[in-house]
Amino acid sequence: MCGIVGYIGTKEAFPIIINGLKRLEYRGYDSAGVALVQKEIVEYKKQGKVSDLEDFSCKKCTAGTIGIGHTRWATHGEPNDVNAHPHTSMNKKFTIIHNGIIENYCQLSVILTAEGYSFKSETDTEILANFIEYIYLKEQVSAEQAVRMALSQVEGAYGLLVLCADELDKIIAARNGSPLVIGVGNNEYFLASDATPIIEYTNRIIYLNDKEIAVLTNNELSLKNISNDSLTPIIQDLELDIESIEKAGFEHFMLKEIFEQPKSINDTFRGRASKNPPEVYLGGLYNVMDKLDNAERILIVACGTSWHAGLVGEYAIEEFARIPVEVEYASEFRYRNPIIHASDVVIAISQSGETADTLAAVRLAKESGATVLGICNVVGSSITRETDAGVYTHAGPEIGVASTKAFTAQVTVLTMMALLLGKRRKTLSSKMYKQLITELYEVPAYIEEILEDNDKYFEVAKLYQNTRNCIYLGRGILFPVALEGALKLKEISYIHAEGYPAAEMKHGPIALIDENMPVIIIATKDKSYEKIVSNIQEVKARKGKIIAIVTKGDTVIAQLADHVFEVPETNSFIAPLTTVVPLQLLSYHSAVLRGCNVDQPRNLAKSVTVE
Ligand code: G6P
Repeated sequence: MCGIVGYIGTKEAFPIIINGLKRLEYRGYDSAGVALVQKEIVEYKKQGKVSDLEDFSCKKCTAGTIGIGHTRWATHGEPNDVNAHPHTSMNKKFTIIHNGIIENYCQLSVILTAEGYSFKSETDTEILANFIEYIYLKEQVSAEQAVRMALSQVEGAYGLLVLCADELDKIIAARNGSPLVIGVGNNEYFLASDATPIIEYTNRIIYLNDKEIAVLTNNELSLKNISNDSLTPIIQDLELDIESIEKAGFEHFMLKEIFEQPKSINDTFRGRASKNPPEVYLGGLYNVMDKLDNAERILIVACGTSWHAGLVGEYAIEEFARIPVEVEYASEFRYRNPIIHASDVVIAISQSGETADTLAAVRLAKESGATVLGICNVVGSSITRETDAGVYTHAGPEIGVASTKAFTAQVTVLTMMALLLGKRRKTLSSKMYKQLITELYEVPAYIEEILEDNDKYFEVAKLYQNTRNCIYLGRGILFPVALEGALKLKEISYIHAEGYPAAEMKHGPIALIDENMPVIIIATKDKSYEKIVSNIQEVKARKGKIIAIVTKGDTVIAQLADHVFEVPETNSFIAPLTTVVPLQLLSYHSAVLRGCNVDQPRNLAKSVTVE
């Protein structure tokens, strides 16, 4: 959360920073600000979106070839102009932008107040700017040393860019816990929270590691750790094309990403599976396959939508590979003193690869000696670098805050893992293994077919756009899909929605059902079909409105439900990949009809890099 961008070189910094901040707006959009090096450091900041900052700054002087910018997701202090970044120290020596949380900012503010410092904002970042200045003036050291000395006393997470009024030729960058990457150009450097603002200028990327500090002038980069040891920067070539981070004619990124799913699922297979003969390979797991084969238990840790994908994985792995699986919210796992054995395999699922709680869970699992794997989308992200092995989802950049194609890619990887394990452990018949792989290959075409009905989803969403509450029901492996459907609706349309296992409805949620309650039921044909038909009857008897996702050609539920949406017939273990798409479309259209900002829903951020 919070996006940061910096530029130092020979071009005008302002347009590069504004452009970059727009690409990072998914990380937070409460306020935005820039600081530019002119004869002195000037800063412009504004509550609201990057475009508000752009309008505001354009009336001012935006010259300068060195600058830093920030788009904020508020943690400390409400979103307003004063709390917006950058923050400048009291004697105007340091101007900084920060992503993360300085946990001991209260203690630092006590020290600073005793030294006569006062603060304008309610932010932890302003305290840090002043703490750096305090050390700089007291110890009479260079800006770089002051930053290093200050950070060695700081607890918490930071991705940090620093300008010093006495050393206007440089940007100091530091990272601990919050991501920061450097793009290496010709006599220029780009800095950002992820590579998306950089990729249009250079694909040569350095990923900063925790407790590293870089000092950049326009033709030199020095990298050290917090103990002042020099390090050799490792430059990697990143393959990411600019088209993949544009809207490509779609009204919203979310809609584009929903429609990209046939392709992103194909990309997820690429090189990891074959159709003839039906096989799964997963080269990223090659070195840990023994551990996986012999795992006594698999623990899956994740947050949000990735946690829902993990639940789908639990059903598939237990069914095919007969290994017990536990799925945990990373935020709970890390703080509850979990029992982790060296024989356990822990799988962290994260689209961004940067979620603070998931990363902390990875570290905890590693300390306990377990084999730790990652299923991530963002190449080079922190989780991918800290896990023993893993599988990239290769869904391409996901910009919409509500996750769609990342979910189906995660489920695809988990299904492939479950199939591979089932085959290797001989717990899955060769016939079933082949049949499921063959069917996995049909999923992109199935999704294409569902997407053809897009207009119908709009029509139904229109009927329910003013509803206040919704219930989502599913059974078995489709229960996590019900949870995901409910999450999609609440996060972008602000309609209260809850997902339940269909049979659990009788234990509480049924009390909510009346003629005003839409109930969305995933009711495709599988072994629980008769039971779900009964659940539909129960809702109908209480006059609830039924929107059912059914198998193509179903005539029974068509008679009972108020609206049906058909998906192609599949094996039930493939159905999460198809049945989630109607739920994504319903949520999308509901949010658009209600006038909500689909790609940037209120209070949310795509990458939650604070606890
Ligand atoms: C945020 C996002 C969700 C995402 C979750 C986990 O809440 O808004 O879309 O599912 O974080 O993120 P991750 O990057 O770890 O998958």
